[in-house]
Amino acid sequence: DLSPIDKAKFAAARRAVDFVEDGMRVGLGTGSTAAWMVRCLGERIRDEGLQLIGVPTSTRTADLARQVGIKVVALDEAKWLDITIDGADEFDPDLNLVKGGGGALLQEKIVATASDQMIVITDASKEVNHLGAFPLPVEVVPFGWQVTRALIEELLDSMDVMGRQTSLRLNGQQPFVTDEGNYIVDLHLNRIGNPRQLALVLNQIPGVVENGLFIDICDKVIIGGTDGKVEIRD
Ligand code: A5P
Repeated sequence: DLSPIDKAKFAAARRAVDFVEDGMRVGLGTGSTAAWMVRCLGERIRDEGLQLIGVPTSTRTADLARQVGIKVVALDEAKWLDITIDGADEFDPDLNLVKGGGGALLQEKIVATASDQMIVITDASKEVNHLGAFPLPVEVVPFGWQVTRALIEELLDSMDVMGRQTSLRLNGQQPFVTDEGNYIVDLHLNRIGNPRQLALVLNQIPGVVENGLFIDICDKVIIGGTDGKVEIRD
């Protein structure tokens, strides 16, 4: 039996895989909601003999995809994707997103950007009027990361945000290390006045690899309800 929140995530995932057609190259997101989508795709492969190529956005998702029978290839082998389905930590009325709660934002952004369509699957708790309550993940290279973090903090002083705290993401006592071998600095901003501008200027800082703001990338959000119903925004 599924918990209410898993019911909602499953409902969104189940609806999203309806958009996947035979022969498609599919970007596979990361996180608990995306994991439901990967399982649903596996089911369609089993039941309908669907032929798919999957490009995962993390080693976690790659492992699960192989387990459920999806043919996994690297992005450069697939070259371009028909569709990417992924979760999000927040989405706003313009369908801009904060992602990276699971630490996979870099591969997620590359894969989503290399897709004709990005569909986000979520439950109602991720819907916000203004992004920023969820800490914004910023992936930084380990070399000189403390200097990079100081530069980020300095930048935040001139930005339209409410909070200015930053924290290095940890895995126990050690820095959390991404699939690409980088660190993550989480920005506690509370409210981001201009997500588009912030996304651009963060990436101007030399040690910053990528940030978790997805601007104009998402085409559709499927919101699952705890009653199993879904709502689609596009
Ligand atoms: C992974 O890096 C994230 O971008 C996830 O997509 C996001 O954290 C959503 O995860 P859940 O579906 O587990 O909430």
